[in-house]
Amino acid sequence: MACISSEPTERYSFAAGPAMLPSAVLTQIQNELPDWNHSGFSLLEQPFTSPAFKQLMAETEQNLRKLLSAPHNYRVLFVQGGASAQFGLVPLNLLRTGQSADYLESGHWARKAIMEARRHAPINVIASGSAEHFTALPALEDWRCNPNAGYCHITSNETGNGLQLQQFPDLPIPLVADMTSDIFTRPIPVERFGLIYASAQKNLGVAGLCLLIVRNDLLRPPRPSLPSALSYAVQAEQQSRFNTPPTFALYVAELMLRWIRNQGGLTAMAAASEAKSRQLYRCIDQSDLFRCRQPIAHRSKVNVCFELREPRLLPAFLVEAEQHGLHHLVGHAAVGGIRASLYNAMPMAGVNRLVEFMTRFERIHG
Ligand SMILES: Cc1ncc(COP(=O)(O)O)c(C=O)c1O
Repeated sequence: MACISSEPTERYSFAAGPAMLPSAVLTQIQNELPDWNHSGFSLLEQPFTSPAFKQLMAETEQNLRKLLSAPHNYRVLFVQGGASAQFGLVPLNLLRTGQSADYLESGHWARKAIMEARRHAPINVIASGSAEHFTALPALEDWRCNPNAGYCHITSNETGNGLQLQQFPDLPIPLVADMTSDIFTRPIPVERFGLIYASAQKNLGVAGLCLLIVRNDLLRPPRPSLPSALSYAVQAEQQSRFNTPPTFALYVAELMLRWIRNQGGLTAMAAASEAKSRQLYRCIDQSDLFRCRQPIAHRSKVNVCFELREPRLLPAFLVEAEQHGLHHLVGHAAVGGIRASLYNAMPMAGVNRLVEFMTRFERIHG
C-alpha cells in the first residue's frame, strides 16, 4: 500500500486510477529495479525479444488464465492505448463493413464507448440508464437486443457512477465487456464473452497495459484500413509482440497476479470487495449527512459513489480527509460528489479509517 516511510501514519489512496499497489508489490519492484532476474540490467532496460522477457510474458499469460479459468479457445493479448483505444478498435476488429453493434448505455464509460464506436459503425443502444441520470442500471428484461448485431457491448462496472453488473447474460451474439475497473475483483464466466478488455491501472498494476481476452473465432483478418499494430489477429499471431509491448506494466501485472493468487485468488478478492464495500455502504446508509442514490442491488463493490446532503461541505470533507491520510476521494468530474475506490490493493484498514473519519465528520458538521 502507498506508505511513505517518513510519514508517521499510513496513507490510503481512494483514487479511481492509477490506484494503490500492495506494499509487497511496491517493495519487490524497488528491490528488483536495479538488477532484474540477475541479468545485470533493470527491467526497464530489457529487450522485449529477450528469452527472459518472453518467459515473463508467457508466465503472465499462464497465471492470468489460471486465475480467470480462461478456456483454451481464448487468446490473451497485451496491448497499449488503454481501454479508450479499444472503444474504437472493438468495432474495427469485430464488425464487418456495415454491420451494426448493440451497446448497453449504463453510465459515463459506456457512453464514451458508444460515442467512439459510432465513428466506425451503426450503433444500437439496447437500454439506457440516462433517464435515472445513471444512478441505476437498466433491467436485463428491458435490453432490446438485435439478434443480427455483430456483438453486444457492456461495461461491467461504471467507475464514475458507482454501478456494477452482478450478472452477465447468455446471448446468441458475442458479448463484449469493458472490465477496466472490476477485472480480477471477482470470478467471471469467461466462456460467456466473445471479448473482454481492461486497462491495468486499477486492479492489475500500472498504466500503459491493456489486456484483451478474445475468443479465437473472432480473430478475423484485419480490414485494409486498420493499422497492423491495432489488429487483434495480427497481435495474436505475433504473441503480442508485433510492436514493443508495455514492458514495465507487464512486469507489474505479473507481480499483481502472483499477489492475487497468494491472497487466495478471485474468490478471496470478491470476499474482500464484498466486506470492504459493505462496511462503507453501511456507514453511508446509517448516516443523516451522507447519501448514496444507487439502488442496493446495482451498487458497485469497487467504486463507492456517494454525496453529502449538504454539498457546501464537500471542500471541507476533502481537505479534512487528506489530513487523516485519506486521499483522492473526490467524485468523477462528470458526476461530482465523493467516490471511494476500493480496488484489490485497498486494505480493510483503509476502509475502517474512512468510516471512522466520516462518523467523526458527521458528528462535527452534520
Ligand atoms: C470502465 C472504464 N473504461 C475505460 C476507461 C478508460 O481507460 P484508459 O484511460 O486506460 O483508456 C476507464 C478509466 O477509468 C474506466 O473506468
